[in-house]
Amino acid sequence: MSHRIILDVDTGTDDAIALMVAALSPDIELVGATTVNGNVHVPVCTENTLRVFDHIGVKDSIPVYEGMAIPMVRPNFVRESPSLIHGEYFDLPPAQTAKQQQHAVDWLIETYMQSDGDITLVPVGPLTNIGMAIQKEPRILPKIPELVIMGGGHEVGNMSPSAEFNIWVDPEAAKLVLNCGRPIRLVPLDATHRALVSTEDVEQLRALGTPAGDIAAMFISTRISGYDMTQPMSRLGAAPVHDALCVCAIIDPTIITTKFINVDVETKGELTDGRTVCDVYHRSKSEPNMHVAFDADAPKFVRMLLEILGRRR
Ligand code: RIB
Ligand code: CA
Repeated sequence: MSHRIILDVDTGTDDAIALMVAALSPDIELVGATTVNGNVHVPVCTENTLRVFDHIGVKDSIPVYEGMAIPMVRPNFVRESPSLIHGEYFDLPPAQTAKQQQHAVDWLIETYMQSDGDITLVPVGPLTNIGMAIQKEPRILPKIPELVIMGGGHEVGNMSPSAEFNIWVDPEAAKLVLNCGRPIRLVPLDATHRALVSTEDVEQLRALGTPAGDIAAMFISTRISGYDMTQPMSRLGAAPVHDALCVCAIIDPTIITTKFINVDVETKGELTDGRTVCDVYHRSKSEPNMHVAFDADAPKFVRMLLEILGRRR
């Protein structure tokens, strides 16, 4: 069964692998990609996305639309230096194709308003584009059958002790989107940190001998070095590939284990700004509003990456 999706990305290294999985999987029709400020500035996200599509031979079939350069309401965060996990511009040849001229927010609105309500929305960066689209045209909401979102964390934070990056960058957008009332599967760090990819897996990706396998090996190797140095996981020599797990969960929902709970976003906390507050024990009066992944099948994840990234267009 082919799933029609739109990927909203802040193309860094794990977004790149999510884009390749979505572009190469026979179970997915990637309608388009929209870029947003996050891991890197939005023009760099766009160029990185175009470079990846060029590299795997889909540059003429998947449109890329550039989106928001700053958060919805708060000032942008300051990047001290390129991250060790994402870098800045990918070490790939400059893109041969151009982005689309239409702004990503306007394209999202137009696409959903014209759709049959069959396009799953998959944000794997800060939720600024999605928040802006919903605010500008709330009538798109009934046209979105599901949002599958990489973001948040219950027992884990990575940008502060209590917040995950995608939510932390634009908490107001996240609050709006997570409370939009549409079906949501949230894939937080609690799940992605249980689906690690190791240096041994990287060698298997490299051995595929495909364009996607090659750059996945390059990017995950960078991620492992960066995580080992700055955010060691349960074992050294392995790293999460957050965004790709989100896409794999669309192809095979059994790859994650979820709980149906209420989640909201802190936007005023001194120590907890940008936290996804997960009501795991139903303590609040708020009804459950999303399926949240608290575990993932790591061997299945690696198998899916090898199978899909071993394909050519
Ligand atoms: O916290 C992980 C998330 O933040 C991933 O989507 C990564 O690409 C960054 O956007
Ligand atoms: Ca991302």
